[in-house]
Amino acid sequence: MQFQTLASLLFTTASVFSQSAKAQDTACAPGNVGDAFSLTVYPQIHNATYDSTFDLDYYSQQQLPWVYSLYKPFGMKGYTINTLGTDAPYSIVTFFYFDTEEQFNEALAAHGDEILARLPLFSSEYPIHWLGHVFNTTI
Ligand SMILES: *[C@@H]1O[C@H](CO)[C@@H](O)[C@H](O)[C@H]1NC(C)=O
Repeated sequence: MQFQTLASLLFTTASVFSQSAKAQDTACAPGNVGDAFSLTVYPQIHNATYDSTFDLDYYSQQQLPWVYSLYKPFGMKGYTINTLGTDAPYSIVTFFYFDTEEQFNEALAAHGDEILARLPLFSSEYPIHWLGHVFNTTI
């Protein structure tokens, strides 16, 4: 249910930052029907006493190109970084695409700890993550 709400938000209001040209040297475009994806969201809280922070420049220019270089040998095909408005419960929604969930799980097992160790460099909030599959694309 939460996922459906998020997905409808994403596809109606979010803007999409495609991966950088440098990262697009894969044989397959990301997001093909049947692909597995890892969906990661970064919560955001904004109130009178607290403001979440997220460094999108660092994330898009340093963190994800680095993650992609670590995960590509495990079969990662590409990624998209999407931003939501401050009215949404999450600020950033990122998709990592693989052929299978097993490929993602192996990549995470090998590199998850070192990747998470860099979280404080760009985000005040701890991310949440789910696995899923691409059902349809019309782009
Ligand atoms: C603002 O958010 C923080 C973090 O969730 C929370 O601890 C605090 O109680 C909130 N303050 C207000 C005024 O809602």
